[in-house]
Amino acid sequence: MRNIIGSPVEGDSFFDRPAETARLRRDLDTDGKVLLTAPRRVGKTSLVLRVCELERKAGTKAAFLNVEGCGDELGFAEKLLQSLGQAGLHAELGERALGLLRKARQTIGGVKVAADGIDMELGAPEDSDHRSLSRALESVFRKIEDSDATVLIAIDELPEFLVNLSRKEEGPERVRRLLHWLRSLRQTYRTRLRWIFLGSVGLDAFVEERDLGKTVNDLAVHTLDALRTEEAHEFLSRLGASNGLPLSEPVRNEILAQLGWALPHHLQLMFHTLRDLGISPINVASVSTARERLLSPDQVRHFDTWRQRLNEQLTPDHAEAARGLLGALSSDPQGRTRSQLLAVLMASRPGADPGAVEDLLSSLLLRLQRDGYLLESDGRYAFRSFLLREFWHRREIR
Ligand SMILES: Nc1ncnc2c1ncn2[C@@H]1O[C@H](COP(=O)(O)OP(=O)(O)O)[C@@H](O)[C@H]1O
Ligand SMILES: [Mg+2]
Repeated sequence: MRNIIGSPVEGDSFFDRPAETARLRRDLDTDGKVLLTAPRRVGKTSLVLRVCELERKAGTKAAFLNVEGCGDELGFAEKLLQSLGQAGLHAELGERALGLLRKARQTIGGVKVAADGIDMELGAPEDSDHRSLSRALESVFRKIEDSDATVLIAIDELPEFLVNLSRKEEGPERVRRLLHWLRSLRQTYRTRLRWIFLGSVGLDAFVEERDLGKTVNDLAVHTLDALRTEEAHEFLSRLGASNGLPLSEPVRNEILAQLGWALPHHLQLMFHTLRDLGISPINVASVSTARERLLSPDQVRHFDTWRQRLNEQLTPDHAEAARGLLGALSSDPQGRTRSQLLAVLMASRPGADPGAVEDLLSSLLLRLQRDGYLLESDGRYAFRSFLLREFWHRREIR
């Protein structure tokens, strides 16, 4: 198991989560289409890559695609076809669809994606099967449905792509069309096809905010958590053993106590920092030294995405309110009650309508819990990760 930080892990470096992979495959079997939700860095991408691998061994053709960087619907379609090809579905792809896509890309200056989005014309009006982008793709799905292969399509970072798309010309309408089209695709071709949607922005939160909830309400929601304590011990033991730096049980306990939340990413980060200390064997005191290093300004990049994401996903006003709540909570390991947090928000909005501020608080608390910032327990809200809490405190308060 290699010490990998940030990129999805595969092969021997993947710490196996057999219960999780089995549960996800079971949900796929029962429902056929799954929305995998979890905070970022819990290991969604890695887990789904493993599920794809297991499904391939069981005879399924599994296509995994990350659509984050797709510029528009054409890019999305190309990526989809490309990954179906890589999954071994060459015969089903149809040269015609691919050729038309390629031609459309070449003349993209002249072809207007704009309002039609996924229904954009492909310049072949005489050929009803390939008249538009959506139809050309459907012709491929029809062939898959007529074949005897089971096909799994896992789409990573769809919301990221949709956020970018929504900011383009006619963006909201294009997003709406794409989501509706994907839903009808899932409804129409459901004998052979299975779907997993995942991403670092929750698709559920994305559609709710835009009143598009019904475009994903056919998906079975499957959640993934960070590691349980025993798993986290095993994770650390394995990392230590494979990298020549064994971690004793007291050291592992100390790491988990300092992290507060056994996020695989943070375990890897902590191990990396411990290794960099150059001490062997590692003792309990080394863990605090490593933690200080992790929180030093030159390590900020590991946590700063948590700050940036707020700005990317929320309106400036809501992002500021969220920062206000997190700032207050970062000084308070015990957490705060809802009414204390309401007071924090009210203080920053003198004269605001209390009902509206309460609504804002509810929606922010929901969001911050979903995204892994906060945990509610016995009516108190607190940072889930002690590491993130301390980062926040140093960055925003101290
Ligand atoms: N099963 C795992 N085994 C080992 N490391 C993992 C595992 N899952 C996650 N990680 C760690 O977390 C990081 C992020 O994993 P990733 O799968 O990209 O998460 P997500 O897609 O939820 O953001 C990886 O680079 C690695 O450091
Ligand atoms: Mg991911």
